[in-house]
Amino acid sequence: MAIFLSGEIKEMVSKPKLDDLTPRQIVAELDKYVIGQDSAKRAVAVALRNRIRRQKLSPEIARDVLPKNILMIGSTGVGKTEIARRLARLANSPFIKIEASKFTEVGYVGRDVESMIRELTEVAVDMTKQAAFEDVKLSAEENVEEKILDILLPTSNSYYSQSFDNKNDLIEDKQPNKTREKLREQLRNGDLNDRLIEVETQDRSNAMIDFVGGQGMEEMGVNLRDMFGNLFPAKTVRRKIKISEAKHFLLRDELENLVDMEQITRSAIDKTQSSGIIFLDEIDKIAGRESGSGNPDVSREGVQRDLLPIIEGTNVNTRYGMVNTEHILFIAAGAFHVSKPSDLIPELQGRFPIRVELESLRFEDFKRILVQPKNSLIKQYQALLKTENIILEFTDNAITALAEMAVKINQTTEDIGARRLHTLLEKLLEEISFLGEELEEKNQIIDESYVLNKLGELSQDQNLRQYIL
Ligand SMILES: Nc1ncnc2c1ncn2[C@@H]1O[C@H](COP(=O)(O)OP(=O)(O)OP(=O)(O)O)[C@@H](O)[C@H]1O
Ligand SMILES: [Mg+2]
Repeated sequence: MAIFLSGEIKEMVSKPKLDDLTPRQIVAELDKYVIGQDSAKRAVAVALRNRIRRQKLSPEIARDVLPKNILMIGSTGVGKTEIARRLARLANSPFIKIEASKFTEVGYVGRDVESMIRELTEVAVDMTKQAAFEDVKLSAEENVEEKILDILLPTSNSYYSQSFDNKNDLIEDKQPNKTREKLREQLRNGDLNDRLIEVETQDRSNAMIDFVGGQGMEEMGVNLRDMFGNLFPAKTVRRKIKISEAKHFLLRDELENLVDMEQITRSAIDKTQSSGIIFLDEIDKIAGRESGSGNPDVSREGVQRDLLPIIEGTNVNTRYGMVNTEHILFIAAGAFHVSKPSDLIPELQGRFPIRVELESLRFEDFKRILVQPKNSLIKQYQALLKTENIILEFTDNAITALAEMAVKINQTTEDIGARRLHTLLEKLLEEISFLGEELEEKNQIIDESYVLNKLGELSQDQNLRQYIL
């Protein structure tokens, strides 16, 4: 089992990364987006940090330090998925979020659980590749520029330029260097973007097979890409396209040429194995044991049973090679409205030793959720309307009124947590959003009376609010 040293990761990835963050800093990062839910944030922060700690151990002991998987329990709309999403952006680790309810037991039609490891590996390869692309981007761009210039102005041989159908005075210039530099400048300025040139690029039509194979074939338990991925070597095709497009195609080819795919694959597999994170959402949907009455339960339990080895540590065959799942961190989350964690089969319960409960959101939380998070709901609407020069402002009273309504409606109908704010705001700003730039008054101030005016009646009427808010 490979241990990935922090130095190696640095080589591949230059962005600031999670690995440098202490648990306190991770929590602080999450705080920017998710209000409250401290225990859940702390748990994920510790779990992540422990993997960094493990990487500093000697291989002998590191092998035995397995990640402590986390089970997040909390009713709907309180921030479970949000924590995962934010973590994913933070984490420079391969990360996927996947709904447990998507899987079916091996042997049945549907996605088998091993596909999530394949997906995670795919993410890791992509990440590693992008990082490698970043490193060679400048040289690739230079090469592309030279290539296009070569086509526009075939060097040394004036015979070529005769047959070139896009005949122009520049080609017949007596000073090729000067001409080339002039063309280069035009090329950089984008003046030549619309000119047609003939280029040779790699034919990626087998990407189509990738695409088709991705989902559909998975259902048959066959991964077409695994089988045929490398059977079709890239063909080159000639085509006549605009320079602006040619730049794009040629750059992609050039990037692919400059990176070492084998090294990328190796490093991606290491990365998957040692720092991969899988967020298993909606795990409560597969809870439930064999009740004897119906098939669904049997298959749910089957999925749970299929999950066991993957969480415990097994080898999964991917098209990049074998991936060991032993050190992949699993964070499961579920509302557990109907079922309880104890409805999971005991073996699975045991594999999620850290339990955190997310609290229901209260009045104060709603107020903060509306304004505090980076890109909070209100900031989103403000930004959207700003594109049409509408300045949207909310008074404190308006925020308070909205939060009060959210609490009240959550109490009296269904508690959908912070999602209630989405429905409320959408309704509140319906008219402003519709009119947009047609509005005479560019400064729109939303105060308490505006809120009551737009939503007051709805929130009073039991029937209306059940459907609309
Ligand atoms: N604590 C919170 N802080 C900030 N925003 C939140 C919080 N909780 C929920 N939200 C917002 O509410 C919406 C729904 O939250 P999220 O997707 O995390 O719910 P969930 O807990 O996963 O619910 P479910 O069990 O239904 O999947 C998101 O847009 C999110 O931004
Ligand atoms: Mg969710």
